[in-house]
Amino acid sequence: MNLNTPSRPVLIAGAHGFTGSRVMQSCPGAVPVPGELLRSAEQRLTDFIRAAEPQIIINAAAVSDIGACERDPETSYTANVTLPVILAGAARETGAKLISFSSDQVYTGLTESGPYREDSLLPVPANVYARHKLEAEQRVLDVNPDAVLLRATWMYDMPLYRGAVLPDGPGSAAPSPHANRGNFLITVLDAVLHGRPLSFPSRRYRGITYVRQAVSFLEQASRLPGGIYNYGSENDRNMLETAKALLQELKLEYPVQDSGQIQHNLWMDCSRIRSFGMDFDSTVQGFRRCIRDYGLRDLSV
Ligand SMILES: NC(=O)c1ccc[n+]([C@@H]2O[C@H](COP(=O)([O-])OP(=O)(O)OC[C@H]3O[C@@H](n4cnc5c(N)ncnc54)[C@H](OP(=O)(O)O)[C@@H]3O)[C@@H](O)[C@H]2O)c1
Repeated sequence: MNLNTPSRPVLIAGAHGFTGSRVMQSCPGAVPVPGELLRSAEQRLTDFIRAAEPQIIINAAAVSDIGACERDPETSYTANVTLPVILAGAARETGAKLISFSSDQVYTGLTESGPYREDSLLPVPANVYARHKLEAEQRVLDVNPDAVLLRATWMYDMPLYRGAVLPDGPGSAAPSPHANRGNFLITVLDAVLHGRPLSFPSRRYRGITYVRQAVSFLEQASRLPGGIYNYGSENDRNMLETAKALLQELKLEYPVQDSGQIQHNLWMDCSRIRSFGMDFDSTVQGFRRCIRDYGLRDLSV
């Protein structure tokens, strides 16, 4: 992403998270919104944004752990609905473009098999996190019709080491806990490394995206018309086939079982975002890109 030369600053909410820390890495001139402000009263956060006069606000802050949202819906609501709505109001007031992450989880309750387009079926969220994400999309657009809501797929990367953005500044020795949250690639590698059983459902379809590519398209996303966009790699393989494809790309021979869970698709059609020039790799092409970036080709040796 080349967001380094805007006339006004780029603000990142959630700069220490999995996605936000990679946005910070690719956009070193960006200004993190302090975490305590994200959790403070609306007025303090709005004052900070007014003073910063941003050109773009990227909202990657959330409570994104689905179990945590079930256990504490109030905190989920504050982080996943109230916060983006405040950011939407502040963006409108300061003339900033807001890009706010939503999730493919909004489709959890659909019984149709997919792939789902943004406009073909009304999303049916089936958990607290997904319900809050969907409500946030609608309320953000009510407040700020120019805002861009990105329904991201499950994203992955290798862990961050040096260069992680930490509360005490970039380049510290240990990454923040969010920055290295579990993801599909790490789940697979971790199982192989420790000889743990690996299983994925053959009746589930979902795109899985290399987060570095999702981040690389954010500059283009900042020029999108306001609205909701499915955002990430498409995937016509089920999760079991996808795990096998990843192992094959890594040249690793390892057994993967069918976990046999019931059908539950989060399968998105991303043609809308593609029509604006953000042509994501397919899920398997994304694995290849990540393997190339990190030099993971020779794991079998
Ligand atoms: N990762 C994925 O695979 C994925 C998939 C689909 C959608 N998304 C969406 O993409 C966005 C980024 O996800 P992520 O995985 O990068 O998230 P993450 O790693 O969980 O990071 C979330 C960030 O939000 C901050 N945060 C946590 N609780 C908060 C609260 N109560 N109030 C305000 N801020 C809070 C955290 O700050 P601290 O570090 O200071 O605690 C952290 O920086 C989210 O909107 C998520 O829903 C992610």
